[in-house]
Amino acid sequence: MDGSTAQLVSFGQVAAIEGSRARVVLDMAEDGSGFAGSVPPQIGHVVSIEVEGARIFAIVVGLRTPATEQAVIGPPNQIMDLDLIGEILQSDKSGRFRRGVSAFPRLGDRASPTNSDDLRRIFVREDREGVRVGCVHLDNSIPAYVFTDDLLGKHFAVLGTTGSGKSCALAAILRGVLSQHPEGHIVILDPHNEYWPAFGELAEVISPANLELPYWLLNFDEIKELVIGEHSRMPEIEASILNQVIVEAKRKLAGSSDHNITIDTPIPYRLSDVTRILDDMMGKYERPLELAPYMRIKDRFATLQADRRYSFMFPGVMVRDDFVRMLSRIFRVPVAGKPVTIFDTSGVPSEILNVVVSMLCRLTFDFALWADRQVPILLVCEEAHRYAPANDKLGFEPTKRALARIALEGRKYGVSLGLVTQRPSELAANILSQCNTIFALRINNQRDQEYLAAAMPESGSGLLQELPSLRAAEAIAIGEGVPVPMRIMFDPLPDESRPRSSSAKFTHSWSKDDVPAEFLTDVVARWRRQK
Ligand SMILES: Nc1ncnc2c1ncn2[C@@H]1O[C@H](COP(=O)(O)OP(=O)(O)OP(=O)(O)O)[C@@H](O)[C@H]1O
Ligand SMILES: [Mg+2]
Repeated sequence: MDGSTAQLVSFGQVAAIEGSRARVVLDMAEDGSGFAGSVPPQIGHVVSIEVEGARIFAIVVGLRTPATEQAVIGPPNQIMDLDLIGEILQSDKSGRFRRGVSAFPRLGDRASPTNSDDLRRIFVREDREGVRVGCVHLDNSIPAYVFTDDLLGKHFAVLGTTGSGKSCALAAILRGVLSQHPEGHIVILDPHNEYWPAFGELAEVISPANLELPYWLLNFDEIKELVIGEHSRMPEIEASILNQVIVEAKRKLAGSSDHNITIDTPIPYRLSDVTRILDDMMGKYERPLELAPYMRIKDRFATLQADRRYSFMFPGVMVRDDFVRMLSRIFRVPVAGKPVTIFDTSGVPSEILNVVVSMLCRLTFDFALWADRQVPILLVCEEAHRYAPANDKLGFEPTKRALARIALEGRKYGVSLGLVTQRPSELAANILSQCNTIFALRINNQRDQEYLAAAMPESGSGLLQELPSLRAAEAIAIGEGVPVPMRIMFDPLPDESRPRSSSAKFTHSWSKDDVPAEFLTDVVARWRRQK
């Protein structure tokens, strides 16, 4: 094809194709002034390539002028790198856009601009159930949708540097989903106590003050961590005693020697029985060395009971079997107008946090398993790299295991993960790789960018080059939960519904010295009461 008309309506011709990538050499003006067309292509734009039987669509992921020495023999070429994203088949009378390409472009095919009609067909899919979360960066009038079942069914992650807008993005996504599916079951682990404004009346907020997770719900790994810990000199012996004592106490209260009752069976037992059983066992020994592990376990139980910070776990002498009520509250069954549970873990000391998070993750999975998929649950983990770190030496093993289990098997039981982190490269690779939809907000750190690019499917990953230049609330959305890989702008959240990020207000606080006289006395009193 020759002549100026072709040059005006197209960018250039395909010069190479590799997998789902294509390279186009742009048409250059004869006078050497650069691109021949009037509107040069830009990164992120969608272009189309006409092939036999279909129109293929591709995203511009790179623009460059190759080796400058070419300039010696003539004006340099300009190259446009494309990621192929999908097609509209001529045989499909509805003109529906499909992801993936069945016919590839050939060398010499021409790449042309798209119009807003094309963009609408690509980004707005009326055949799929979706919710709006923002708009498409290319054209603000086109809404950005997520497909609810694909988003929630296969885990998602929201990643980005601090302040890039992750919490707001998560709130925008969840509010979008809840606006159409108000009877949801969402559990958010909220270490900064920031999400309550985003959900208002829709959320049940569980804080250390009204948290109840009785000790008898702990599984063996967790109670071992609490009672025996890392500093025991004879952990195996103590673990074996602990196991024996708890099983016996559980059987005692259940009034049965039922062998189905194991250390991990979630039924109550009395701490007074634990002490009594330990005393009985100790009666058989005399030498201090033999008594030591028993004494240590007994002391630890007593210390935990006395520690106010653990009062949510050791509430008092009475043991009540209120498992049903607890499950109802945590997992919102019935929903009763509050589809979200926010676990404010901001006041939970770090050594206790591990156990609480492990317990919640495990309870979520076990509940879904025994509820036989009838109550699909979304578990959202803020600061996910803390709970599932890439480094084997960090993190709490039972939490990592519980999260990995949900990541790998959760889908079958209707438990889905929403992971939020500012350090993708510090998140365990086996967990991130299970997230089929990624919202990547601004990421400056080179290591995080490379890690993410390696974890991404090929199609659309070229867009990740834009990560350092994204503005707040802008994201590259990739994966099965979105129509195509795209750069989106999340809808602005009204002021009062924004998650409260807790950066200290230095300028405000440092402008005046008006701390009341009793301020420090109060601080010390709270500190001592641990309340
Ligand atoms: N969708 C949005 N609507 C309104 N404001 C937003 C939006 N996204 C980001 N912002 C602005 O950017 C600020 C930071 O956003 P946000 O707290 O969500 O960042 P973050 O990535 O979660 O940060 P951190 O890593 O510290 O948790 C917000 O306080 C808000 O002012
Ligand atoms: Mg945040």
